[in-house]
Amino acid sequence: MAANAHVTVRRATAADVDAVLDLLIEYDLPRRHFEPQYLSDPTYRPTDSWLLEEDGRLAAHLRVFDRTILVSGTGMRVAGIGNVITRRLHRGRGHASRLLQTALGALPGEGYAYSLLGTDIPDLYRRFGWVPITQWAVSATLGRVTPWRGEIKRFALDDLPVVANLYATDNAHRTGPTVRDVAYWRGQLAWLDAEPEMFLVARTSDGTLAGYVRVDRSEGPTHVLELILRTELEVGRALLSRVAERRGRVFQTHLPCSRLDVFYPDERALVGESGLMGRVLNVQSFVETVQPIWAQRLQDAGVPGARIRLDTSAGSRELNMGDGSLMLPPLKEEQLADLLFHGRDQTAGDIRDILFPAQDFVLWPADDF
Ligand SMILES: CC(C)(COP(=O)(O)OP(=O)(O)OC[C@H]1O[C@@H](n2cnc3c(N)ncnc32)[C@H](O)[C@@H]1OP(=O)(O)O)[C@@H](O)C(=O)NCCC(=O)NCCS
Repeated sequence: MAANAHVTVRRATAADVDAVLDLLIEYDLPRRHFEPQYLSDPTYRPTDSWLLEEDGRLAAHLRVFDRTILVSGTGMRVAGIGNVITRRLHRGRGHASRLLQTALGALPGEGYAYSLLGTDIPDLYRRFGWVPITQWAVSATLGRVTPWRGEIKRFALDDLPVVANLYATDNAHRTGPTVRDVAYWRGQLAWLDAEPEMFLVARTSDGTLAGYVRVDRSEGPTHVLELILRTELEVGRALLSRVAERRGRVFQTHLPCSRLDVFYPDERALVGESGLMGRVLNVQSFVETVQPIWAQRLQDAGVPGARIRLDTSAGSRELNMGDGSLMLPPLKEEQLADLLFHGRDQTAGDIRDILFPAQDFVLWPADDF
């Protein structure tokens, strides 16, 4: 950067999207890989792109993915941070940091309660308050193939209403899944199609949708993008068996605890992954989301009330539930993230077991950004 280069940060307008797409190819992926995520994502507004310019030329970019995820079945608005990139020749000058800092100044005032991102350079984001969230990847080799008495077919657009409905029902009580409306679904079909995928639906003999699976077609183990079932795990095995006929029996994915048994214990291994990070963006909006959930848990367990202080990257706030009679130890951002997404394994033997039950957590890879 020339010593006197004029550096500015601003939000994009529609006129900038072309230049953003040109910059993203510095990920060493073709422009068409990114286009559907910008041109077919109904949640994308050009103002979700933050631009850093040197002397008026685009040097770095960051995108906010406006998503709502479920937390114990309740919607929470999340700013997903992604497509963070600095032009090669401009790296190491603090541009990505400046973009993060500027976006962090604005996002808390825009209705986002929390932020999530995935990275392989966590130190960069730690500085700005994001903390790691453990994720378990399932690595599995399908042994015995499971037949299915019903029908398994490729997804067709006519299936979308029932598929979307089953997705909503199956995930209703989980933590992590993205809330999808029809527009999001259609957009997602476009941007996942950019990377060819297999999308299979299973129906019972009376035509009822019993489940579906989506996988991508990257090399190596088959990445399951999501596995959604009405009830029976056997349907899941049958769907994966069908996938295995074409792609081999080695799978890798993220599954909620309730779905792990789709693989037999001797077929699967859990691998701890780093890279997922989160932080509170607006402590008031965050509290408004979690307080009713936590208060209800206490009430259901007949606990008169409790108080707890949250010390987050967005500031501290004390939550009062019921009569607030029991003071609990404060929670820092990292503990909070762990309790929010994973809950406890019910061994504390005290009120924390009630407040933070184990969560059926998953971020379906289909919603990655
Ligand atoms: C990652 C990236 C956006 C950083 O952009 P940048 O403008 O150079 O970042 P900054 O100058 O603000 O650097 C911030 C800090 O992150 C560190 N950092 C940047 N890239 C890094 C990398 N690949 N590995 C480890 N640390 C890295 C820098 O050393 C710097 O720390 P310092 O202040 O102690 O020197 C840029 O390298 C890039 O575009 N990479 C390719 C795209 C990519 O991987 N994006 C995903 C990021 S999750």
